Amino acid sequence: MRQKQKKVGLRMEKIIVCGQNPLRGTVRVQGAKNAALPILAACVLVSGVSTIENCPDLSDVRAAVAILKRLGCAVKRSGHTLTVDSRFVSCYTIPNELMREMRSSIVFLGSVLARTGKAVLCAPGGCAIGRRPIDLHLSALRALGAQIEEQNGVLCCRANRLCGAVVALPFPSVGATENALLAAAVANGDTLICGAAKEPEIDDLVLFLNRCGAKITRTERGDLFVRGTPWLHGCRHRVMPDRIAALTVMAAVGAAGGNVMLQDAVPGHLTAALGVFCKAGCLLETGERTLRIAAEGRLNAVPFLQTRPHPGFPTDGQAAVMAMLCTAEGRTAVEETIFENRFHHVAALRQMGARIRVSGRRAEVEGVPCLHGAAVAACDLRAGGALVVAGLGARGTTVIRGVRHIDRGYEKIETCFKTLGAQIERSADSGPEQPQSE
Ligand code: UD1
Repeated sequence: MRQKQKKVGLRMEKIIVCGQNPLRGTVRVQGAKNAALPILAACVLVSGVSTIENCPDLSDVRAAVAILKRLGCAVKRSGHTLTVDSRFVSCYTIPNELMREMRSSIVFLGSVLARTGKAVLCAPGGCAIGRRPIDLHLSALRALGAQIEEQNGVLCCRANRLCGAVVALPFPSVGATENALLAAAVANGDTLICGAAKEPEIDDLVLFLNRCGAKITRTERGDLFVRGTPWLHGCRHRVMPDRIAALTVMAAVGAAGGNVMLQDAVPGHLTAALGVFCKAGCLLETGERTLRIAAEGRLNAVPFLQTRPHPGFPTDGQAAVMAMLCTAEGRTAVEETIFENRFHHVAALRQMGARIRVSGRRAEVEGVPCLHGAAVAACDLRAGGALVVAGLGARGTTVIRGVRHIDRGYEKIETCFKTLGAQIERSADSGPEQPQSE
């Protein structure tokens, strides 16, 4: 009971932003959540010790660590470095409460099954942004020889021996690609994952696995060829920079104005997004691992913005860029092609004065000269990032609740923007938490 109270108590925080201070200075981009989580799941395959550097301190990462510990791994954190000793994996069951903490928990299915020959777990949690089925994950694992049954919402999976096969993905699902890769890395024989996702986080997972002794290459067509190896050893790996965190800072500069240097940002991961910022009138300067963005005055609307699998514009950046374009001159049409229900941020942006009409997967944003502060609530992770962007550009004070969603993917978001001169604080919130969908 005491623990439950403590957990609820932790959630009661708010972020208070006084907007319209131009952002200036240099900021280092955090390690990528969406690379760190599958890499931590991959540690289960390793019969040894893995050292993962640049691992952001996020609630989703803490949830992955809790799963690793439950499975029998010893995990230590020192700053941004996690050491995972997975020599003695002793368990193949992941309890419901750990599975429901986040969507990425489903990627443990492939690695637990491959390591132990069994896996018992329920459907994953995560942001409420659409149906998010796992049929592609299951059919990929079945193609590799897994037997999977569902009983009362629990997946019972078995594979005495995973065997290489052709895995054809009808959609380049990031999670299904990761699950197929993890299982195929230690399967008996060769696997070709056709239609694999091309997100940079997949390539970071491949890099980690190859450093552990796996043999994975990307073909010219973008498929993944995996030569199965019987066992993997530990390695040292540095998680790639977070392209969505970088994009959120860029959107904030677009909204509030200013001139910011992002260090540890990889422009090559952000090509589609950079095009959008250029069209909006931001000035960009790119280096190999740096990105400078400057913006002044009112931006231009971008006629059409469509989310697509990589290398298209990322669905995770849609909310933050929409928040930036709420005050651009003209009308922007946004089409969300990845998830059917990813406009939860629109209601809060409207509370701040935005003019947005939503119809199915399309949103029409009619730029207004200025947003105003309001009391709003983040109802999912990227919606939360978008509200911080909106608040930084808005006149007056914005109070953002639902901070626990933001903490799933942004490490100390207020510190990042404070460094750049924003007036932003986190404080305890004694008021009632706003109703949220999760
Ligand atoms: C997706 C995003 C990823 C983002 C993450 C968190 C894409 C392609 N993927 O990854 O960039 O970081 O959300 O926001 O942009 N689907 C199925 N069956 C499945 C799996 C997925 O139908 O078994 C569908 C989903 O309903 C969705 C689409 O495929 O419409 C994207 O799914 P997927 O890439 O698997 O999602 P994530 O791995 O969560």
